[in-house]
Amino acid sequence: MAISSSVKLLLSLILILSISITTQANDPDILTDFITPNSTNVDATFFTYHGLSAFYNPNPKNFTVIKASMNEFPALNGQSVSYAVLQFPPAAVNPPHTHPRAAELFLVMKGTVEVGFVDTTNILYNQTLQVGDMFVFPKGLVHFQYNRNHNESAIAISAFGSANAGLLSVPKSVFTTGIDENVLAMSFKTDVPTVQKIELGLK
Ligand SMILES: *[C@@H]1O[C@H](CO)[C@@H](O)[C@H](O)[C@H]1NC(C)=O
Ligand SMILES: *[C@@H]1O[C@H](CO)[C@@H](O)[C@H](O)[C@H]1NC(C)=O
Ligand SMILES: *[C@@H]1O[C@H](CO)[C@@H](O)[C@H](O)[C@H]1NC(C)=O
Ligand SMILES: *[C@@H]1O[C@H](CO)[C@@H](O)[C@H](O)[C@H]1NC(C)=O
Repeated sequence: MAISSSVKLLLSLILILSISITTQANDPDILTDFITPNSTNVDATFFTYHGLSAFYNPNPKNFTVIKASMNEFPALNGQSVSYAVLQFPPAAVNPPHTHPRAAELFLVMKGTVEVGFVDTTNILYNQTLQVGDMFVFPKGLVHFQYNRNHNESAIAISAFGSANAGLLSVPKSVFTTGIDENVLAMSFKTDVPTVQKIELGLK
């Protein structure tokens, strides 16, 4: 009896542990110094990326994200870090979104950026950032950025604690993926024409 109940306890502990492991979304640790596509001809160029050299654009035409994640820069695979440069024209918004696999450390290089995130109790934490100010968006939480200045552009650099932080845009995931319009209308306590109007605007 005692044995079987401790076996049960052990089994539930293993179950809880494996659930908590599978719900973690960290980059896995690697057992090598770095990961290369092949072992031949790896030199410093493999660890060098030039794709952000166009980061300083004082007159961006539209909101632009230049990424340096493992997709663009394969040497990041296994290193749990990545960057992105965000260029905001006057009055541009980066709509509410989340990064499922990483916190984001946001640094303003030019202009003024209003930012905010919402925690799991629906409390909004927002701030207006000037050049040199840094803000952290906790992992997985919905957040946004807005250049409230209608005359000047803004530039920011984001660092992520993942080589592939992932992006889930709230408007796009909800309104452009074919979820039944009645489901959306009921969820947003509105009608189908209103849902269709939102969907059209996102096309
Ligand atoms: C090895 O990887 C390098 C860098 O990605 C690539 O340029 C080269 O073609 C690869 N060589 C082979 C044999 O796959
Ligand atoms: C952003 O601006 C560039 C240059 O004007 C243009 O080619 C591109 O289509 C624009 N992208 C979007 C999403 O509007
Ligand atoms: C936070 O957002 C509110 C509107 O929701 C705004 O009135 C306020 O100025 C913002 N605070 C900062 C510091 O940006
Ligand atoms: C933008 O420029 C206009 C005209 O020069 C000015 O009236 C307005 O206050 C400026 N707005 C901001 C946010 O600087």
